[in-house]
Amino acid sequence: MRLEDTDDKFDKPFQALDQALSHCPAHIEFEQDNYYVTDFDSAKQAMGNPDGNYVEQSDFFNVDGAMFSTRDAQIAIGKDAILSLKRYYEQRRSQIIETFRDQVGQGLSWPDSANDLMYCTFYDFLVDSQRSPQLRKHLDKVLRHSLYSGQKTHGSGWRRAFIRLRVHRALRAVFKARRQQPPYQGTNRDVIDILLACSPDNESPKALAQIFLSFFFAINSSMAFTLAWSLYFCAKEGGVLHPAPWIVKEALRLWPVAWNLPRTPSKAHTLGELNIKQSDTVTVCPYVLHRHPDNWSQPERFYPPRWENATADAPYMPFGWGTHKCIASAFALNFTSDLISALQGQQLIFEQLSEELHPEPAIAPPEFRVKVKTSA
Ligand code: HEM
Repeated sequence: MRLEDTDDKFDKPFQALDQALSHCPAHIEFEQDNYYVTDFDSAKQAMGNPDGNYVEQSDFFNVDGAMFSTRDAQIAIGKDAILSLKRYYEQRRSQIIETFRDQVGQGLSWPDSANDLMYCTFYDFLVDSQRSPQLRKHLDKVLRHSLYSGQKTHGSGWRRAFIRLRVHRALRAVFKARRQQPPYQGTNRDVIDILLACSPDNESPKALAQIFLSFFFAINSSMAFTLAWSLYFCAKEGGVLHPAPWIVKEALRLWPVAWNLPRTPSKAHTLGELNIKQSDTVTVCPYVLHRHPDNWSQPERFYPPRWENATADAPYMPFGWGTHKCIASAFALNFTSDLISALQGQQLIFEQLSEELHPEPAIAPPEFRVKVKTSA
């Protein structure tokens, strides 16, 4: 099924996709030669790439359209980072949960509060603030201008580009300076240390800076928005009415924050019923897979109990699939479930502050407020 050529489909892609999905299409041609697959097998073929039909690609390790360093370096970085992240969280677990409960108790607005929580609590995982204090002011600005929901509508494109330029320069300087120093032996090993330790010695500071920012966005947007969507649905239901892991999985089914994963064919080939040319784009869109009526019953309904009997081979890809699947998938689910569980027993009041969705690479919920109902 081919979507009509209107500007609206780029401004409101979810509406356009919903409309297409209501026809139960075999595929969606979002724009000319860009095919959104709808069945799990085709999605697995594109993401797993068993026949080498696609250029090796991962949004995370993408540096100006090419892949970062060597695959060995990428794997080493992923392993080191996830071990470090788990350790970091375990050491601060109760304090982070308490901060989240406080935030909910204060009746703040979301998703910005989720960005604040992630940024403050995981900052030192990304950058040891003692050793590289000069980065803070730059990263504060990236957070404010790239992620806060109000800024998305008010922050101009050129201002964001300028901020990125400045942060890149500051990051490159930090990578160069740290490289001159002997390997760090202290207890605050951060992502900068991990990237330097796991990459070849001649890896460019520019590429290292770009991968650092992939970590920054994974924590401060993907994780933050996953928490915000989970809270959004809980609050709408008036509280935590189901096991937290079901709530988080169901929130990510309806709103997979990484909702668009395009792949570039390396040669002409057949994908399901599609004849793909090398010049086409095949997009695995978890939003489409998760809401296609052939894949899920009542796909638009938020219904956590569906996870009670879900099998491991359900058509579900919020973390990608195959070689480049997210290293943090289990961590992100556990972490978000821990926080949502902490609201068990509280009556939540939901207030929608905006209807607007911003189709950014990571999709955040529209602005909302949550209050806790007091018994008095
Ligand atoms: C809920 C939060 C998260 C979501 C929804 C998410 C989603 C994804 C997705 C969809 C991919 C596959 C990208 C592709 O194939 O193009 C991916 C890859 C990746 N993610 Fe995440 N991510 C999350 C959190 C994190 C965190 C916290 C980290 C690290 C601290 C992380 C590190 C990575 C890495 C290293 C890869 C690349 C794996 C590879 O290419 O081998 N992610 N993520």
